[in-house]
Amino acid sequence: MLRETIKGLVARAGRSSVGKNLIHAAVLEDSGRARYSSVERWPERLDGFEDLAFLFASNQLSHGIASLQLDEAALLYRLARNVSPEATVAEIGRFKGGSTLLLASALPDGAELWSYDLHVALRADLSGPELDRDLAGALERYGLAVRVHLLVADSRTAEPPPRPCELVFVDGDHSYSGARADYERWRELVASGGNILFHDAVDTRGYGNHYPGVVRLVGEIERDDRELERRPDAGSIAHFVRRG
Ligand SMILES: C[S@@+](CC[C@H](N)C(=O)[O-])C[C@H]1O[C@@H](n2cnc3c(N)ncnc32)[C@H](O)[C@@H]1O
Repeated sequence: MLRETIKGLVARAGRSSVGKNLIHAAVLEDSGRARYSSVERWPERLDGFEDLAFLFASNQLSHGIASLQLDEAALLYRLARNVSPEATVAEIGRFKGGSTLLLASALPDGAELWSYDLHVALRADLSGPELDRDLAGALERYGLAVRVHLLVADSRTAEPPPRPCELVFVDGDHSYSGARADYERWRELVASGGNILFHDAVDTRGYGNHYPGVVRLVGEIERDDRELERRPDAGSIAHFVRRG
C-alpha cells in the first residue's frame, strides 16, 4: 500500500515540470562521475554494439559516458553501421564523447565522422579540452582515431565536411533558435537518402529528456519540409530521411 502510494507520487512528480527538473539535476549531478578517465575495465575489442555496454548506465538517474538511452543508441549504431564505405557522417555536440565512440565504432572502414563541439561548459568540473583528451585516448585505444575528426567549433559557422553526409546527428544547442539554425544549415548537407536525427526532440511521457524548442522544431519540419520524411522515433530521437 505504502509502496503503491510512493510509486504514484514519484510517477506524478516525474510528469510535472518541477519533478522533471529535479530528475534532470540529478542526472547532471551524477553524470560527472561517468567518464573515460574513470573506466575500470575496458573491453578488449569493439566488435559490436554489445561491447559498448560500458558507455551506458542502467537508468536515467545515473548517466553513463553517453548521454543516450539504449533505444536511441541502438538506432544510431544501426544507421552508422549501414552507411556506405567512404561515407561522411557528422555529429553536432559530443560532450563526453559517448555518441562519438559509438558512431565511430559502428562505421565501416573508410567512412569518416566529423564531430563538432563548442565546448560549452555544461559543468564547471568537466572541461571540454580534458574530455576531448580522454575521448581521443579511447578512440586511439580501439584504432578509431583515424576515422574521426574532433573539431572544436560552432556548428552554425564551422567549415562543413567536404562531402554530403549520409548521417547527421544533431545534439548541440537545444534552444529553439539554436536547433533551428542547425536544421537550416545541416539539412542542406544531408545527402539524398541520408538521415538527419534530432536528440531530445520527442516527449516520450516517461523520464526521458526533451526540450520544448527542439520538440517544436521537429513538429515544424514534419509539417513544412517536403524534402524530409519522418521515420519512427527512437526514445527522444526524431529521425528524418532526405527523399531520394
Ligand atoms: C547533450 S551534449 C551532447 C551529448 C552527446 N551527443 C552524447 O550523446 O553523449 C550537447 C553538447 O553540444 C555542445 N554544443 C552546444 N552548442 C553547440 C554549437 N552551437 N556547436 C557545437 N556544439 C555545441 C555542448 O558543448 C555540449 O557538449
